[in-house]
Amino acid sequence: MLVLGIETSCDETAASVVRDAKVLSQEVSSSVHLHSDYGGVVPEIASRFHTEYIYPVVRKAIDDAGVKKGEIELVAVTSGPGLPGSLLVGLSFAKAVSLALGVPIIGVNHLKAHMISCFIRPLFEIDDKFPFVGMVASGGHTGLYRCDGLDKWESIGRTRDDAVGEAFDKVAKIMGLGYPGGPRVEKRANRYKGTSPIDFPRAMLKGDKGLDFSFSGIKTAVLYYWKGCDKSESEIDRICYSFQKAVTEIIVEKLRRAMVFSGCRRLAVGGGVVENAAIRSGIEDMCEKNGYIFFLPSRKLCGDNAVMVAALGEALFLRGVRSDLTLNVSAVMN
Ligand code: KG4
Ligand code: ZN
Repeated sequence: MLVLGIETSCDETAASVVRDAKVLSQEVSSSVHLHSDYGGVVPEIASRFHTEYIYPVVRKAIDDAGVKKGEIELVAVTSGPGLPGSLLVGLSFAKAVSLALGVPIIGVNHLKAHMISCFIRPLFEIDDKFPFVGMVASGGHTGLYRCDGLDKWESIGRTRDDAVGEAFDKVAKIMGLGYPGGPRVEKRANRYKGTSPIDFPRAMLKGDKGLDFSFSGIKTAVLYYWKGCDKSESEIDRICYSFQKAVTEIIVEKLRRAMVFSGCRRLAVGGGVVENAAIRSGIEDMCEKNGYIFFLPSRKLCGDNAVMVAALGEALFLRGVRSDLTLNVSAVMN
């Protein structure tokens, strides 16, 4: 079926057209540059940007796909979790499209969409992948799930404070590197050629056997270290490298524990932080060492995009899940 996907949960206005799980177009306009002075997303700026860009972005996705709007058979839209004002722009637009074209609308959970983003290449053959451990590592969320089916997801671990992407963003802000922090911290970490990284704390690893995360302690440790250091370029590289190393170790160890705890042999990871090469290779090494099968999305599908929304919407619709025009947004969702 021909599906239009729409995603506006945070600072990316995205639309995509997918046919039978094959990606025909992928359009993303980001307001990230408007937030860089603030060190994080400003909700009001994000929703104004969505309002301005939603029409041209959807228009371009339809044109690039080489289809006519009348051929669209389903509209899939992120209904949460995310910034309510931002979500509302995408949802209202999707409802208008649904009403105007007389096609069904389906609401999609953003976290679940991230977790299935590694199965779109381009065929969506998810049923034989269950059960798996899924992880979302993004700017707004850090969670572990046991996934037994498209409608069977159980939360098995989550962050108790900052999301991992948020920690990257805050650490970058402390050092004045700008927003989004993740790519900037990674770039500086790659420049570090020394052999004496700083030993930042790995919270909730030693002694704690659970699957929850905590990233606020390491962020504070960076802050105190920063206050006392010489703030030279090489010291910034060293801090970035050491922070990224600590975060990688935390994620990899929690994933390893989640695999043991769940008894699953497969692992699927998604979200903006999974663009990080050190984190990707840490996960790959752990899986190879333990004989686990792992799925990582292509870099293009790690960050917020509408391909994952269209693909999950289609898969749910084909399994009988339905929404209607009473669909509302939800800032918080499991
Ligand atoms: O999934 P995403 O695009 O949006 C949310 O749903 O939050 O994730 C954005 C987050 C930001 O915090 C950003 O700093 C982080 O992903 N990120 C990275 C990298 N690229 C983006 N974190 C670490 N390394 C990266 N290369
Ligand atoms: Zn996201």
